[in-house]
Amino acid sequence: MPTGQQYALNSDALTKLDGLVSRIESQPGDTIDVEEFRALQEQLDVRSVLGTLPDGLSEDDFVGILKLALLTECATETYGDAFAERADRFNAPWLARFNERVWVPDELTHHAPYKFILMSLGFSEAQLDREIRHTQEIDYTHRGGDTPVHVTTFGIVQEYLTDNWHGLIAAMLRHASPTAAYMATRIKRRETLHTVWYRDMTALQIEADPRLMKFVAEALLKFEMPGNTLAPDLQHSVGRWMPLMGADFERITRDLVRLIHETMTDTRRSGALLVEIAAARGMTLGPVSPAVVRTALDRLGGPGYGLLGEALLERVGLSYILKREHQREDSGFLLYGGVYERVRGLMRSWVARQLDFRLEAS
Ligand SMILES: [Fe+2]
Ligand SMILES: [Fe+2]
Repeated sequence: MPTGQQYALNSDALTKLDGLVSRIESQPGDTIDVEEFRALQEQLDVRSVLGTLPDGLSEDDFVGILKLALLTECATETYGDAFAERADRFNAPWLARFNERVWVPDELTHHAPYKFILMSLGFSEAQLDREIRHTQEIDYTHRGGDTPVHVTTFGIVQEYLTDNWHGLIAAMLRHASPTAAYMATRIKRRETLHTVWYRDMTALQIEADPRLMKFVAEALLKFEMPGNTLAPDLQHSVGRWMPLMGADFERITRDLVRLIHETMTDTRRSGALLVEIAAARGMTLGPVSPAVVRTALDRLGGPGYGLLGEALLERVGLSYILKREHQREDSGFLLYGGVYERVRGLMRSWVARQLDFRLEAS
């Protein structure tokens, strides 16, 4: 098993990662022009949203939701520095380049619309700037693990959840303030791209060294939204706000499982990842500990883990991925015959019970 010091990719992998970053750099997508938003500022009438808030969500809640977006987005340089330091420490020039030339400049534009939106609600620019400065001065400690694969895994989850947050905000704004909704949607689209980029970077690292899966598991287990440090009072209300905002937790779980599965490439690795996570959390499979499950699955070889990965995908409604894989791969698990169905049933209910670990992230 690799440790924090055993992160080293071969030159072939480094070349591929470099190539990926070059492609991203040459095609960064629809980046934000803050001046475009500034010009739209006069059209904003966010006060009209107050009469259309979902049941149970107060005006203070609405302001808190917008401020959480503003304050977590304004701290870009804090995260940027944390990632740059790790990229240097683990000899990942591709990550340093992505961070410096693509990610940081992009993220620096994301808080602007929320400032305009809050000003339209009556907040003064001076007050918002004070809150922004205060947040930027907070000492942010990145606790999601240090190697580049820890960082890119953290990126997948953090960007996905942020994408989701901007989307929920856009939905609340859409009816009464389409211009504000447009701004939030533009930011959301950037986060969608970031999610996919981090997913691809993670997949290339796993392809080069499947043992790095352990670090993916670690990053998922340690994951914490930066808002917990930067705006704890607001972040702590997210659990109450999300259902009121219409968050679809099944979909969030499904999307996250799909993204992580895509970094593992097949069900065997996804199953092995699940066992890794379960073992680290001390979960049991019925009366059986994950360590015993792992020993049993190791004896069965790949197909055993495949069953578990399959159960995971089925549980979250991603069986279509299985059909795709089965067309492509030899189906070793078919050898199990009737036992297969029984084991699969057991795995499925176990997976169902473990799945909530994903939602702690929100
Ligand atoms: Fe952002
Ligand atoms: Fe982002």
